[in-house]
Amino acid sequence: MSTTSLPVPDRSPRLREALLAAAFTADGLLDLLGAPAYAALARSETVPALRATRGDAPLDTLVRLFLLQQPVPYERAAAALPLAECAEDGWVTRVGDEVRATVDVRPYSGPEGQDWYIVSDLGCAVGGAGGIGSREEGVVLGVGGASTTLAGITVRTPVASALDVGTGSGIQALHASQHASRVTATDLNPRALDFTRLTLALSGVAPAELRQGSLYEPVGTETYDLIVSNPPFVISPGARLTYRDGGMGGDDLCRTLVQQTGDRLNEGGYAHFLANWQHVEGEDWQSRLSAWVPFGCDAWIVQREVQDVTQYAELWLRDSGDHRTDSAEYAARYDAWLDEFEARKTKGVGFGWITLRKSAAAAAGNPSVVIEEWPHAVEQPLGPAVEAHFARQDYLREQDDAALLAGHFTLAAEVVQEQVGLPGAEDPEHVVLRQHRGMRRATKVDAVGAGFAGVCDGTLPAGRILDAIAQLMNEDPVLLRDRTPQAIRLLVEEGFLEPVPPAG
Ligand SMILES: C[S@@+](CC[C@H](N)C(=O)[O-])C[C@H]1O[C@@H](n2cnc3c(N)ncnc32)[C@H](O)[C@@H]1O
Repeated sequence: MSTTSLPVPDRSPRLREALLAAAFTADGLLDLLGAPAYAALARSETVPALRATRGDAPLDTLVRLFLLQQPVPYERAAAALPLAECAEDGWVTRVGDEVRATVDVRPYSGPEGQDWYIVSDLGCAVGGAGGIGSREEGVVLGVGGASTTLAGITVRTPVASALDVGTGSGIQALHASQHASRVTATDLNPRALDFTRLTLALSGVAPAELRQGSLYEPVGTETYDLIVSNPPFVISPGARLTYRDGGMGGDDLCRTLVQQTGDRLNEGGYAHFLANWQHVEGEDWQSRLSAWVPFGCDAWIVQREVQDVTQYAELWLRDSGDHRTDSAEYAARYDAWLDEFEARKTKGVGFGWITLRKSAAAAAGNPSVVIEEWPHAVEQPLGPAVEAHFARQDYLREQDDAALLAGHFTLAAEVVQEQVGLPGAEDPEHVVLRQHRGMRRATKVDAVGAGFAGVCDGTLPAGRILDAIAQLMNEDPVLLRDRTPQAIRLLVEEGFLEPVPPAG
């Protein structure tokens, strides 16, 4: 694989037209390959797709050329592509009677079914357990699970300016191009900026402003309405692969990125990060992370998974294909990883999402900071639920208990009640409210909580509902009004209940 010369996007509209005409799209691929081969390709397994592309239609040719790294006969390539231009612009090279791709071009379906393309280094379109196809320092990867997770959790309200830090193949900038008037994409690796340029051009969206450098250095003191970053968050014993190893010690790269965001966000702006953080002996992980939240920002940090240090080292050794190297080399690398963790007193590593929002309340010294663990499946795209979380925090911040009791609430869409207990028992042991949207949370409630949630249709104020429940259950209404606001607050915070805005 060459890491020097890359295609120029000069005539990408013509190439895009040819790709679309051949149905080289996410849907076209699925039709041609069938679901199992399509899914196998996403796991870097190419044999099923090779078997499914033995035909001589342009689509078979393009799949072999751009996804499977196969040389294809010149005549067949010429039937599928404006070949002279593609060769001149550097997308393909001719070797005798055959043509080879210089980069991986992978169809990627946008959120509204847009036919987009992600351009990355050959053999690096899919990372993960299979290991990428190259261990060169500056390789640029395609779309991985982390990329789509970040794209999914991002709040997508229309904004004037967006910044993608560590743009790689450009996937986050591509998404941002749909709702930001101006997109800036940065990367430490200059090749990544070239790939982003190609991805955006071939996807037919507006170009981004591309700047090379580390973290916020290329944007100076500029501020943005939206910042996204899937940074090189891997905590590793050395800066080996630019796409994943941040090159700072421990989790310092993620910490620095998050801490420096306060000055780069406009009022009301969101910043979304994927991150890894150390679990250090004798230190509470939530306290560690709360120290990362910059002044003037609200924060919602969700830990999705924790791995012990051995699982963590193995994950990233496989990611870089080290498990396929000589066993002594593998053992030495593994050892170095464990040495690094030992020196840092690290016993585990948390994976998760960090969302910041710049707010006046936070600037006034009253930030909302929620740091929690939620390892269960969520609804993606989660962006609307993220925005709703912050709106509910704003609401709760302003309501004392009396105001809560005067407030009106509705039960969130698709919340159901489950009764849990022994089969045949007369009464359930406990009642659970379960969401089918957003974070898909579940929470145990008592009889008052279940009854309260059940009647919340926005018509009666909370206090009046509690009075009725007190009467039904033979309880003292004053005591009930006294002890319930905390439970209501929690149900609102977690999105089971939605406040109804006052009329007018
Ligand atoms: C995990 S990749 C993410 C790529 C892409 N944004 C995505 O979501 O798939 C991290 C990117 O950060 C870049 N990078 C590494 N160190 C950096 C730094 N100090 N400052 C900015 N970008 C950096 C890498 O070159 C790589 O492109």
